[in-house]
Amino acid sequence: MEKLVITGGNRLSGAIKISGAKNALLPIIAASILGKTPSILQEIPDLEDVRTISEVLHELGLTVRREEPDTLVIDSSSISKCEAPYELVRKMRASFLVMGSLLGRCGQAKISLPGGCAIGTRPIDLHLKGFEALGAEIVLGHGYIEARAPQGLTGARIYLDFPSVGATENIMMAASTAKGQTILENPAEEPEIVDLATYLNTMGARIRGAGTNVIKIEGVAELRGATHTVIPDRIEAGTYMVAAAITGGDIRLDNVLVEHLKPVIAKLKEAGVTVDEDINGVRVRSSGKLKPVDIKTLPYPGFPTDMQSQFMSLMAVTAGTSVVTETVFENRFMHVDELKRMGAHIKIEGRTAVIEGVGKLTGCPVKATDLRAGAALVLAGLVADGQTEVGCIHHIDRGYDNLVGKFRTLGADIVRTPTG
Ligand code: EPU
Repeated sequence: MEKLVITGGNRLSGAIKISGAKNALLPIIAASILGKTPSILQEIPDLEDVRTISEVLHELGLTVRREEPDTLVIDSSSISKCEAPYELVRKMRASFLVMGSLLGRCGQAKISLPGGCAIGTRPIDLHLKGFEALGAEIVLGHGYIEARAPQGLTGARIYLDFPSVGATENIMMAASTAKGQTILENPAEEPEIVDLATYLNTMGARIRGAGTNVIKIEGVAELRGATHTVIPDRIEAGTYMVAAAITGGDIRLDNVLVEHLKPVIAKLKEAGVTVDEDINGVRVRSSGKLKPVDIKTLPYPGFPTDMQSQFMSLMAVTAGTSVVTETVFENRFMHVDELKRMGAHIKIEGRTAVIEGVGKLTGCPVKATDLRAGAALVLAGLVADGQTEVGCIHHIDRGYDNLVGKFRTLGADIVRTPTG
């Protein structure tokens, strides 16, 4: 077990490159199952979640090979199994994303039920509703979900009650090789959905409208592997932008698509941060004197839930009152108790957190309760008085490529050491 030890107080400056997007890559790796020839994926970050989904594919009989520095080669010419076991799905809920592809490729899939997780119950009813609409028979039992469509899937009109990212991705994958047309209404519009559609279309799928509120999928007989470069990680970029803001720093981030970060940039500007955008990235500067801002998380293009905890750390040290409302997940305030241990003044009422900015946080041992909570604690540690020790960093390793190296490049005093 390891922890991060951060000594606060350094103003960050310099330049780093943002890695490929975890949440685009996971469904894209799952979609590779649909290709009957190998796929080559580029800009692959070094992340635990990528290793986990690669293990899932390996379990299904596919070959996944990493080629340095950042390429993944997936040979999906043969599949030996259509079942994803509990040990892997338990490790990462997103393993459930292989269901749509398996159903499309093999006409059947058996996946362990993901169960609860740190940020809420996260049901999968919308995924299942989509598969059923496409003609799959769903059977639940012994902790597994089995979907069967021995005669293949058939296109359908599907309305999502909530624009779930995962359900949209799973349905797009399953519908790509269904017979006829699928019309998906009220889908998620996240950039990661568009990247998945781009990849599937390069594989031979016929998907239009990804990124809007209606996606049309014309089923094709089969897909082949493809070469694809994954989009930059907007949440990693947003996290480093907040790092510049919170430390009164001056950071340049390369490989950023600013159009994916509009609400984050708007809120940073509202707080008094200077953000200069150009074609390849952003420069983020802050005098350290910031104003409080209110935030409400929403599906894209609203403010991303995955940036909520990082903004809360920023507001915790910004004089005045700010209000953060979480509407996407029902239990995503677990960083609050840890921030309070560092001296933050935060009160939770239902889905709303009211933050009274304090002059200074103080370093102490804290625990990352999930990936973004971990990022928020690292950010708080960068400005806290003295040393902050962040434990349970396996959560951070799931989604931040070389976090220590990147922060050290920017001048942070952060090291990774064994616990105990
Ligand atoms: N929901 C349902 N039924 C469903 C599916 C979702 O009620 O069948 C609910 C969830 O319980 C939740 C809300 O809908 O309250 C949003 O869930 P969604 O399905 O959109 O999220 P996801 O696909 O499980 C992805 C990201 C998350 C990110 C969310 C929202 C991946 C692998 N994960 O999760 O990323 O927070 O979309 O943008 O893409 C992270 O990176 O830290 C992370 C948690």
